[in-house]
Amino acid sequence: MHQDRLRQLARSSGLAAGIRWARRLRRDAQAVVARNLAAIEAASAYRWAEKNCRPLTHFAESLEPTLWLETERFAMDLENRHAAEFEHLRRTIRLGGGADYRLLYFLTRLTRPEVVVETGVAAGWSSAAILRALQVNGSGRLWSSELVYSRPTIHADYRPFVGMVVDEDLKDRWTLLLEGDRVNLPRIVTDCGPIDLFHFDSDKSFAGREFAFDVIRSRLAENAIVMFDDITDNLHFRRLARRPGSPWVVTGPRASVGVIWEGIHARVVHESAESVKPRGRRPTPRTQPR
Ligand SMILES: C[S@@+](CC[C@H](N)C(=O)[O-])C[C@H]1O[C@@H](n2cnc3c(N)ncnc32)[C@H](O)[C@@H]1O
Repeated sequence: MHQDRLRQLARSSGLAAGIRWARRLRRDAQAVVARNLAAIEAASAYRWAEKNCRPLTHFAESLEPTLWLETERFAMDLENRHAAEFEHLRRTIRLGGGADYRLLYFLTRLTRPEVVVETGVAAGWSSAAILRALQVNGSGRLWSSELVYSRPTIHADYRPFVGMVVDEDLKDRWTLLLEGDRVNLPRIVTDCGPIDLFHFDSDKSFAGREFAFDVIRSRLAENAIVMFDDITDNLHFRRLARRPGSPWVVTGPRASVGVIWEGIHARVVHESAESVKPRGRRPTPRTQPR
């Protein structure tokens, strides 16, 4: 009764409208602050990544020059067959852009992983690279996590385009789940066995990256490779790289790819002046949760 009376009074005196206005103002101000903080973080991540970036060709050729030539041939073939159609879909239905599929093909061929897990499929450039390399290797399986959500303003049915650049003859090595990382990844790690290569290219927020890494890290095989795409979006990869005992490299176009891999040879490991001293804790073995 009292409350109804108070509401009536607030309405007639204009107080309610004032409160709504103040709340809206606070929400807008919070959004502006959040956007600015994100922009500052991205700028800082970009400066760090650029300073530490190793050109992809140097990185790959220092590991295995002949394999890099094979990689270039693979990439050229893939692009010749699909680039035009993809470009059209990228513009019309805003299909997500391709990851660094050269590096993925190269590392998959080089290290011959048995279990590969990736997040973010879109047209499937990364999936096609990993799957082709697994096929050439003659063994291994890829588990992919994608989120097919309705995008009415973009396209009524996005599903047919997921993995469109992946050839049919590669699909018997592929398990593709479409319910998003938060549902897919816990399922994948239960089924897939120790992960030799993990590639992240889905929800690029700090929380999205952290969630995925938290799920997979205790399931990584000895000497596993962990790759993050678009590392200049925020400081997530820099934080990972700064953990003691994790050899890492930043490479790719616009310093966009971060790789953590205990198998990187000393000569290609990051040699930054910034190199971080262990802070009291001994490096944790790769197979232990961190
Ligand atoms: C940049 S695209 C991936 C490109 C792909 N790796 C390639 O090389 O073609 C990012 C994809 O992540 C997907 N995605 C976004 N949030 C996701 C989530 N929470 N879980 C799984 N996939 C997600 C998007 O639908 C989009 O298709």
